Formats: sequence, structure tokens, C-alpha cells
Amino acid sequence: MNCIATATDSANRAIADTCALAERRADTLVPQPSQPAAQPAPTNAVIENILSRSAAKYYDPAAVLSDDQIRHLVRIGTSAPTSFHLQNWRFIAVRTPEAKARLRPIAWNQPAITEAAVTFIIIGQLADASTVPARLAPVVEAGIMPAHLVPEWEAPARGLYDNQPQRQRDEAVRTATFGAAAIIYTARSLGLGSTPMIGFDAEAVHREFDLAHDEIPVMLLTVGPERAGNWPQKPRMPVADVLDFA
Ligand SMILES: Cc1cc2nc3c(=O)[nH]c(=O)nc-3n(C[C@H](O)[C@H](O)[C@H](O)COP(=O)(O)O)c2cc1C
Repeated sequence: MNCIATATDSANRAIADTCALAERRADTLVPQPSQPAAQPAPTNAVIENILSRSAAKYYDPAAVLSDDQIRHLVRIGTSAPTSFHLQNWRFIAVRTPEAKARLRPIAWNQPAITEAAVTFIIIGQLADASTVPARLAPVVEAGIMPAHLVPEWEAPARGLYDNQPQRQRDEAVRTATFGAAAIIYTARSLGLGSTPMIGFDAEAVHREFDLAHDEIPVMLLTVGPERAGNWPQKPRMPVADVLDFA
């Protein structure tokens, strides 16, 4: 249909009216986001892993994770993203009876500390932009990033963090939290329970485990084979209560 033609009689006028209506509809449709027909929510092994995780309270106290198993968990954990690839984290694996006995009294005496095979002290380091070149060197070496981009990452990192203690600390907490989350879901995929914990005396942990002045014990994370009695994942607030579209 040629909508540019001028209507000269009643038939052509009807065509012109139809064209005008179609153009108005097109105008109203253009800015609207498309709404595909509702379909069953997709699922897969990763989604099932996330949906089946719950905080483990009861661990098998006889279970042991080898240092290699612990290294594997942390290696996967460190594949989590960090701002400017800072990797401003560190992990202390508390796994001997002696070390667990030092940690438990300064972690609200929570039994999981001594019963879980390992408790990680998840440490975030204050974001320090001067570390950017060293962190990016292996990325350049691997041929992923051209060397001339390194200063282009360092400069905005300096603008963001230099002389900004609150941002440095915020980034430490973000980094540690992403790392912990990756370990949590890796552990789950290996059949291990886990619980992040804020129930501890941060100053005492800092002192007892010799953290550096720029290090924050962001959380403890117990990991290990579970014993019976743990609750399943608790119901969450409805998505409608936590999601806004913009
Ligand atoms: C930051 C943080 C701190 C937590 N601290 C503790 C803790 O100290 N002790 C504990 O038993 N559980 C702790 N939890 C576990 C929460 O209680 C648990 O994740 C929450 O009740 C939801 O349960 P679910 O993860 O099994 O669904 C903590 C969780 C988070 C994310």
C-alpha cells in the first residue's frame, strides 16, 4: 500500500485513513520494549546448583579436605571478577585443630568453625591503584591486553581510589564477597556445604591471624562435607518486591 498517495475519492480516502492509522500505531509501538510471550523459565546444572545451595550449620566433624582440594576451591574462587583486575584478596584456610581452636572463641564460639573441614578467612585488601601494572602484566604477557592500555587502566583506578579510604574499603569488601561467592558455588557443585559468617570479632581475627594493616577480614566461610539436619534453602522475598524495571 502506497501511503504517500493523495486521496481523491472516497475509496482512496478510506485507504488514506487506514494508512494514517497504521502510521499512528507504528508511532506508539516504536519506543516500547518488546515483550516476548511467556515461556517456561530455563534451567540447567548451574541454575540447579544455585537454587539448591543453603547455609550449612551441621558438618561432618571427621571430614578432612586435603590442601590440594582447598587450593582447587581457592583457584576457582579467584576466577571471580575484581575491579581493574586488582585481585585485592587473600584467603587463610583454617583447617588444623590448633588453628580452628584459635578461631572458634573469636567467632561467637560457633560450632561450625571446628566441625567444618575448613574455615576460610576471606580477606579483602584496601584497593591500591599502584598495583594495577603488576596485576595486568600477566594479561599483557598472555596477549590478551595490549601493553599501551595499562596506563589507561591505572589512571582511572588512581582517580577512583587514591586518597579515598571509603572507596578503598568498599572495594575490599566487594572483591572478597565475589571471591567468597565463587567458592560457595564451587563447593556446592562438589557436594560440599558452606556458610558465610559475619559472626566474629574482626579485630581479634585481624590480630590472631596476623593480617596486614591494609587487610580486612570481610567474612569467614566454613566449607566441608555436611552431616544430616541442615535446613534447605529458605524462601526468598517475591521478585516483585525486589525488582524494579527502568
Ligand atoms: C554476610 C553473611 C553473614 C552470615 N553470618 C552467619 C553467621 O555468622 N553464622 C551463621 O550460622 N550463618 C550466617 N549466615 C548465613 C545466613 O544466616 C543464611 O545465608 C540466611 O539465613 C539464608 O539462608 P540460606 O542461605 O540457607 O537460604 C550469614 C550469611 C551472610 C550472607
